[in-house]
Amino acid sequence: MSEAATTLDWLRRRVGRLRAAVVDPRARSEVITRLRFGAQVHQDVSLSCHDRYPRLFTPVRALLAERHAPHILSYGCAAGEEVTSLRGYFPDAMLVGAEINPALLRICRKLPHDPQRVFIESRRDTIAAHGPYDAIFAMAVFTRRPNEVNERGLRDISGHYPFALFAADLRFLADQIAPGGLLIVEHAQYLVEDALRGMPFSAVPGLGNWLAKGPRFDPEGIRIEPQPYISRIFRRDS
Ligand SMILES: C[S@@+](CC[C@H](N)C(=O)[O-])C[C@H]1O[C@@H](n2cnc3c(N)ncnc32)[C@H](O)[C@@H]1O
Repeated sequence: MSEAATTLDWLRRRVGRLRAAVVDPRARSEVITRLRFGAQVHQDVSLSCHDRYPRLFTPVRALLAERHAPHILSYGCAAGEEVTSLRGYFPDAMLVGAEINPALLRICRKLPHDPQRVFIESRRDTIAAHGPYDAIFAMAVFTRRPNEVNERGLRDISGHYPFALFAADLRFLADQIAPGGLLIVEHAQYLVEDALRGMPFSAVPGLGNWLAKGPRFDPEGIRIEPQPYISRIFRRDS
């Protein structure tokens, strides 16, 4: 397909998404969140589902087995799907869900009561106030419309989703992790190692390492070829 045809196709899909926003309240809330919070929003599509990451939740449960009532943050928890899934893996955990989309946060707060769970606005002060954390999950948050990146065939995403936005928030989250605690990142468009350079973290060997699902980009925003194998579970040095 020529570049003009690709762009036209992408524009058509964009119009389709705007039309969806008129009729679907969740899609509308995504547009409103983007307008209100601008660059603070990483992934503005809020797709989620129950028990989306058993391949990561299961090894993390084993790694945290010795921690009593671990503090766990789900960063970008959408309508609470990830947090209620985590409860199944961590029955005694203190679960914190942080979300930037106010409409989704309202849905989270209407979930059946759980005394060991709280949903918070995603701000640095609120996140820090509930830490430090034994584990932070940042799943499908540090990315921006990967389908659009594919549809437009982007090889450089520096203008679409700059590395600096990813690195600043990921480093902030990493700072909230207790010694020996875990940072779990899935579906990020950049590599965690590039953002955490100089911080006391290392990938947990043998767990959570397989081929990236979509393209990954270097700190300049340029697509890494071939698509790499990536680590997803990182531990803070004790
Ligand atoms: C694709 S959903 C992922 C939901 C869930 N983590 C999962 O993997 O199923 C991305 C979510 O991240 C949220 N988000 C984007 N930027 C955020 C930020 N700066 N702080 C907290 N949440 C954010 C979006 O509003 C959206 O609900």
